Amino acid sequence: MTAEPSAGEVGALVKTPRRPLDIEILTLFPAMLQAPLAESIPGRVQARRLATIHVHDLRHWGLGRHKSVDDYTYGGGAGMVLRPEPVAAALDEIRRPDSLVVLLDPGGEVFRQARAHDLAERPHLVFICPRYEGVDERIRSLVDLELSIGDYVLSGGEIAALVVVDAVLRLLPGAIDAESTAEESFTAGLLEYPQYTRPPVFREMPVPAVLTSGHHEAVRKWRLKESLRRTRRRRPDLLENRPMTREEAKLLGEVSHEESGAALEAAQERAVQTDAPAEPSTD
Ligand code: ADE
Repeated sequence: MTAEPSAGEVGALVKTPRRPLDIEILTLFPAMLQAPLAESIPGRVQARRLATIHVHDLRHWGLGRHKSVDDYTYGGGAGMVLRPEPVAAALDEIRRPDSLVVLLDPGGEVFRQARAHDLAERPHLVFICPRYEGVDERIRSLVDLELSIGDYVLSGGEIAALVVVDAVLRLLPGAIDAESTAEESFTAGLLEYPQYTRPPVFREMPVPAVLTSGHHEAVRKWRLKESLRRTRRRRPDLLENRPMTREEAKLLGEVSHEESGAALEAAQERAVQTDAPAEPSTD
């Protein structure tokens, strides 16, 4: 009689191993990407064959003897614009039927965690990193998605591509330990709760007692509540469209109550000091 498989063995039998995520990056400055992608989690992800990353020099597809990739803008204006032909030629070689081609551009969709999850599910990502003053408008017709990493202008798409690739790689199953991923999903869409390490008291600031109590449930609740508190204070916009569990709604109610009490107390304190009428601040 054969022994029953253990839970781990059943998992191993049922799970079909995922194909690695293949990433290609088109840039005029390959060195800007190579070193950061060889370190830390991106490096480990490749060593574990969870992903492959190829950085391509766009100049390889440049035009003529000088391998030219840019030109003056029609109509006049400062700076050079990336021509469409080198990008098109590169994509003709690199694009697969299952590719998602992404142009890094300050006018693109603002990159958020939900998009990182979406990209982590894809089999093949191609990132185009423009330099210069921008891209010929017709390049946009060659791509599937334009992404911006925020409302500021970088000198090129390389750092933006690094941000996106890093956020995607750490989501691949096996990239980071399962506990961290589980913790992240527990407070998904909220800011991180406060964390502490040794010493127990630093410059008269003690570690909250609950964290050293050994009470797992109390710790979990405290963390969730403090995530909600921090999000309410710093990024209330994140709470607007986020569905809430009953527990979260209750904890957020407690936080609101505590914070308005604290605001009133602070206003009273100020009034005592200045002899002005007490008006709670909205913070
Ligand atoms: N290229 C220049 N600025 C950028 C930004 N904020 N996001 C993506 N690509 C860019």
